[in-house]
This record gives sequence, C-alpha cells and structure tokens, in this order.
Amino acid sequence: MSDIHPIFSRLVSRAEREHFLLQRSCAVWFTGLSGSGKSAIAIALERLLFRKGHFAQVIDGDNLRDGLNGNLGFSEEDRAENVRRAAEVARMYTHSGIICLCSFISPRAAMRAMARDIIGAGDYIEVYVSTPLAVCEARDVKGLYQKARAGAIPGFTGISNPYEAPTNPHLAIDTEGCSAEEAAFRVYEYLQGRIQYLPDSP
Ligand code: ADX
Repeated sequence: MSDIHPIFSRLVSRAEREHFLLQRSCAVWFTGLSGSGKSAIAIALERLLFRKGHFAQVIDGDNLRDGLNGNLGFSEEDRAENVRRAAEVARMYTHSGIICLCSFISPRAAMRAMARDIIGAGDYIEVYVSTPLAVCEARDVKGLYQKARAGAIPGFTGISNPYEAPTNPHLAIDTEGCSAEEAAFRVYEYLQGRIQYLPDSP
C-alpha cells in the first residue's frame, strides 16, 4: 500500500497532524445489539470531546449504509464487508489525527478482529455496549424488533441471527439505567490518557 505514495516523506505525517490538533488519535469501536445505545453514546461522546477541545468523527451503520456501503445488505458476507470498509475509513481518520468513533453491530468476533487488524491493535479500543436483548427489544426505537419477531426482517441480529459478545473488550457498558451522556463520560474517562497530546512525543 505504501508504494502508491512514492513521495511519502513529503506527505504531512500523522505526528504532524496530531501536533496540529493537539491530540493523539485512535478509533473507538462500539459493538452491541441494535438499540443497545452504541450510536447514542458515540454521538454524546463526539459532543463531549468537542467541548473538551478534541476533534472526533462518528461513523455508524446508519450513515455509512446510506452512501459508501449503500450496496450492502445484512448477509454474513455483506456485514463483513460493511465492517471492513468501516475499519478502512476509521484507519484513514485515525491517521489524519482524528479520533474516530465507530458504531457497528459487528456481530461476529471475527469481524471485530478484522477491524482491529485493519485499524491496528494499538489504535483500536473496543467498547461493548452490553445492554441486554430484552431491554433493546422493549425500547425498539426503530420498530425493527417487532418486525423481526413478525418474520418481516429475516436474519435480524439477536432474534434470528447470532450476536457473539466480546470476551475481552477494553470497556463494557450496559445502558440500562444510564443515559447516553453518562455512558459517554465513562468512555471519555477511559480515553483521557490515551488521547492526551504529549508535547514531547515525536
Ligand atoms: S452490521 O451487522 O453490519 O455491523 P450495522 O451496524 O451496519 O450492522 O447496521 C445495523 C442497523 O441496521 C440496525 O441498527 C438496524 O437499524 C438496521 N438493520 C436492518 N436490518 C437488520 C438486520 N437484519 N440485523 C440487524 N440490523 C438490521
């Protein structure tokens, strides 16, 4: 990949970009069931980071599937491709010095391992939004669980398709009885040391 840029040394480096933005970048990967609160936390965290002087960008299934991933559905292959492209986008943001907040069901451990490999283990922070299925289903924000139970959406995660819970996430948050803002603050506390710009870093 690197040889597509033969003038590599003339490109503005990640370190220079991080110096410009006064932050160290990374990708936060939110995984969990539909309706678990992934995107709400990512959006609240983006706002919180912005208030704290950081530059971050949310990407999620809803916005990527409208555009870049508009040709993908919910088969195993399409979900894997959805995650692969999302991870490539997250990698580009991260290398631009921007903290990328990624919200994707990413139901299989292998899909998340692929995302980690693409982004780079050192830049990948996994947050498992562990809100139980019963709670997600009771919320049914988009009315999709009801449709899935009625058989109108085949292969719906948690109903007729599996979700493999992460076994070793950096952080796990159950949003039952906790607001998106509170959850975002927990992630922020976890991230603080990781994103803080160190003047002496190369
Ligand atoms: S992923 O599995 O490929 O990671 P992604 O996070 O992009 O999924 O999209 C999930 C969103 O798509 C859900 O929040 C829901 O609104 C919608 N959706 C539509 N069909 C399905 C389905 N079969 N399973 C899960 N979510 C679906």
